[in-house]
Amino acid sequence: MTSQKEFKAAAQKALEHAVAWREDGPKLPAFPSATTAQIRASFDVDLPEQGLNGEIIIDNLARAAEPGLVNNTHQNFYAWVQGASHPIGVAADILTSAWGQNAAIHQTAPAAAIAEEVSSKWILELLNLPPESSFAFATGATMASFICLSAARSEVLHRHGYDLEHEGLTGAPNIQVFLSKEAHATIISDLRYLGFGHKNLVFIAVDHQGRMLPDELEQKLTCSNGPKIVIVQAGHINSGAFDPFNEIIPLCKVYNAWIHVDGAFGLWARAVPSLAHLCEGLEHADSWTVDGHKWLQVPYDSGYAIVKHPDAHRRAMDISASYLVSDPDDGRNPAQFGLELSRRARGFSLWAVLQALGRQGVVEMISRHHDCAKLLERHLAGIPRIRILNQVVLNQLAIAFGDENEALEKRNQMTVAVIQKIREENKNFVLGAKWKNQSILRISIISQLTDKDDIEVLAASLLRAWDTVSLV
Ligand SMILES: Cc1ncc(COP(=O)(O)O)c(C=O)c1O
Repeated sequence: MTSQKEFKAAAQKALEHAVAWREDGPKLPAFPSATTAQIRASFDVDLPEQGLNGEIIIDNLARAAEPGLVNNTHQNFYAWVQGASHPIGVAADILTSAWGQNAAIHQTAPAAAIAEEVSSKWILELLNLPPESSFAFATGATMASFICLSAARSEVLHRHGYDLEHEGLTGAPNIQVFLSKEAHATIISDLRYLGFGHKNLVFIAVDHQGRMLPDELEQKLTCSNGPKIVIVQAGHINSGAFDPFNEIIPLCKVYNAWIHVDGAFGLWARAVPSLAHLCEGLEHADSWTVDGHKWLQVPYDSGYAIVKHPDAHRRAMDISASYLVSDPDDGRNPAQFGLELSRRARGFSLWAVLQALGRQGVVEMISRHHDCAKLLERHLAGIPRIRILNQVVLNQLAIAFGDENEALEKRNQMTVAVIQKIREENKNFVLGAKWKNQSILRISIISQLTDKDDIEVLAASLLRAWDTVSLV
């Protein structure tokens, strides 16, 4: 059995490693220094017959893991779309682990439930969304959208006189789900988990920025009789673009469709006065997904489901049992809105990060990242054979190399080679993707520390790489 003394020594050791990692992080190379085989060999020791000393385990863990960590808390990290775990959120998370609360049930974790209640109210205020909306804490945007779409499925069937919770899916009216051809991959997975097959999905064409075309949506809605769900995006994964909510949402109302907004990172534009126009009209939707662990820098895992119709939300998600008692003044019971009956107390780190940033801190960070994206755009503008494929409206850049009249294969090879060269310098962590049938260098400026000086470093590295690649 672990003694209090051993716990204290191990916890102090863990804190030492944690603080050292965060202090050294900005100086470290962005890539893991160990190969996959080396990481595997470090972890793959024989399972001990007898338990080891805690302090030694923690030392061994740090030694095994650190060479294999991706330094995504680094200010020059631009890959995927990942936040950088705000240090105060990390500190709150250490306490969260020590307290060991099961936050799914109010009665097993009243402090966690109230921290969620208060921080979710702050998020609704920041995002200027209807204050009466219900809220669920999930692992990330994937599960947050799953929750929102569960509520949507239940509600659109109810509106058609069908009680899904009683009758089940078999025999239910056919629901059609309208989504853009460039919806995020996780939305397609969510729909599959919910029992929708490709035959239930109506894909709507997009414009050159990946925005859903309202005319085509209208045409397709007109041809459909049954219950309907429409899924729109605030922040396209490649271009950062926003669907034209002011045109789409009133249209959906005419057809009595539930409108869900996937705003995993882009919804945060609503918190910034100079960017809020990008999200105009989306407040009239029925549900919204937004991540904490992306732009808000809350440590993993933290995503939020927001639903304008608490009754539909609860009907879809409720977990009740005789032993799950509540007092009248408990307020919201998380298990009635989320997926699990046992889970981490995600509200503590959110509560801490929101206070560490403050309203102005959120605005400053998001506008700084937007300004950084515009700065990089200016650095690349006019450079022969470098093309930025998107309008830089937010924090994402989709960059392709080579002229459009050059062979696609050659252009793709050059883009991949530029990415490789940037990575070899080990100053910036970047990755590629495919968009519009071609390879792109996708830059996501979203890490809390990134500022204009970092963009100068990135631009210089990118231009050096292009100088070499373009000559070959
Ligand atoms: C638009 C969009 N939706 C959903 C997701 C999935 O988010 P998560 O990884 O938090 O589940 C992402 C991730 O990048 C995204 O960009």
